Amino acid sequence: MTGIREEAAADFSIQQDWHEYTEEQHAIWRLLFERQQRLLVGRACGECLEGLDALGVEANGIPDFRRLSDVLDAATGWRIVAVPGLVPDDVFFTLLAGRQFPSTCFIRRRDQLDYLQEPDVFHDICGHVPLLMNPIFADYLQAYGEGGLKALKLGHLQRLARLYWYTVEFGLISTPEGLRIYGSGILSSAGESVYCLKDPRPHRIRFDLRRIMRTRYRIDDFQQTYFVIDDFQQLFDATRPDFAPIYREIAALADIEPDELAPGDRNYDPDGRRKKMGRKFAAAQV
Ligand SMILES: [Fe+2]
Repeated sequence: MTGIREEAAADFSIQQDWHEYTEEQHAIWRLLFERQQRLLVGRACGECLEGLDALGVEANGIPDFRRLSDVLDAATGWRIVAVPGLVPDDVFFTLLAGRQFPSTCFIRRRDQLDYLQEPDVFHDICGHVPLLMNPIFADYLQAYGEGGLKALKLGHLQRLARLYWYTVEFGLISTPEGLRIYGSGILSSAGESVYCLKDPRPHRIRFDLRRIMRTRYRIDDFQQTYFVIDDFQQLFDATRPDFAPIYREIAALADIEPDELAPGDRNYDPDGRRKKMGRKFAAAQV
């Protein structure tokens, strides 16, 4: 038993107590890290892989947050704050708005390698932190924290939580090399890393802020719908305006189920251009 689940301070921060991790815990990290590294090359977006590399996160074992924070701080001004688990919404948003990322310290057990509903240190550090090395995404997450504090006051937290879910946790990005992953929930899941890109079952829809805010999600299985951004600038620009009028605008509209398609959806189609050209060619033959 390690001392990492000690009493939290009033702001929910705790000490990581890095020296208290056992050999077994570092070994689980190694297993998870090496497996994901093999899977993520060619599946994760370049920014994620570059961020991981620049942070110096390695297979050796669970990283020391103090060292990671120093690298992160020098790059984008973010730091990692150790927390015992999920923290209250106001604490979470206040931390993000202050460019502090709350990370859990504990690591899953060996029998939980493939699935864990709550975030652990592997999910938080390998899933979330690499993208915080990217200046645009780093600003996006800070703006999200500020938006969260406003949404709390306005009573629209559920709408905003969906934006976090479908971007920060389960986002996909279109790149010249093809569809890639940037969502941390996927980056830290071996099964979903493969499923989200190739499986024919889920919908892959072009990013649409209002559509996302109306879409429910499930936490107990792989996603049935993914939203695809063109780049991180699109994400930042789309979420820059004041959300208050948007919350009012969509308040009267029905929620959309996780597996449902809606009018106006634009499917991500990597072969779209080729097909369009093909149709044009076919029409010219008639
Ligand atoms: Fe997460």
